Amino acid sequence: MNPPVSEVVAITGTPGTGKTTVAKILRRRGYSVISVNELAERLDCIIGEEEGCKIVDVDELAKKIADVLPEGLVFLEGHLSHLLNPDITVVLRCNPVELKRRLEGKGWSEEKVLENVEAEIVDFILIEALERCKEVYEIDTTERSPEDVANVIEMIAKGDEEAKRNFKPGKIDWIAVIGNEIDELIRI
Ligand SMILES: Nc1ncnc2c1ncn2[C@@H]1O[C@H](COP(=O)(O)OP(=O)(O)O)[C@@H](O)[C@H]1O
Ligand SMILES: [Mg+2]
Repeated sequence: MNPPVSEVVAITGTPGTGKTTVAKILRRRGYSVISVNELAERLDCIIGEEEGCKIVDVDELAKKIADVLPEGLVFLEGHLSHLLNPDITVVLRCNPVELKRRLEGKGWSEEKVLENVEAEIVDFILIEALERCKEVYEIDTTERSPEDVANVIEMIAKGDEEAKRNFKPGKIDWIAVIGNEIDELIRI
């Protein structure tokens, strides 16, 4: 029997960009939304833990995932979701100055905050997504409400051409936006 046909939309991004928040909204709107971390636990793909963060065997998870995805549109939420062969990848972005505030708000260590702020500044996840995924979009969540971010993701998932044009990757340049503030932001 053929596996059910799913259309997988990955919602990825540096921690703090708002993936879980937007996933909750999409779930409330009735969509199938799967958290990569929860799925990795369910499929026994956790291979360790570091600073309270679970380490996922991504290759193993990518192999197992096809068998458990529901039919139709499904959102996969998590900072590894773009590594699981999605049909569409949405990278959430956030101005590093605001990202730092959000991560400090989560009570994260200075080191972990800095590591993620740096990853956001150098477009780490976007580049990885562009290298691996066929269709990539990016949304700046800095001044956009979570409801609005969910609206954009919904439009992209439904194939809205205007949304696809407006959220093509490559428009965000944090180094240009934050300018000299960068020294203060990443000083150790
Ligand atoms: N669009 C947004 N605008 C402002 N704050 C947001 C937005 N999305 C999320 N947040 C806040 O940022 C923090 C991190 O959000 P979260 O959804 O946990 O991010 P992630 O799952 O990507 O790590 C939370 O405090 C959340 O309330
Ligand atoms: Mg999260």
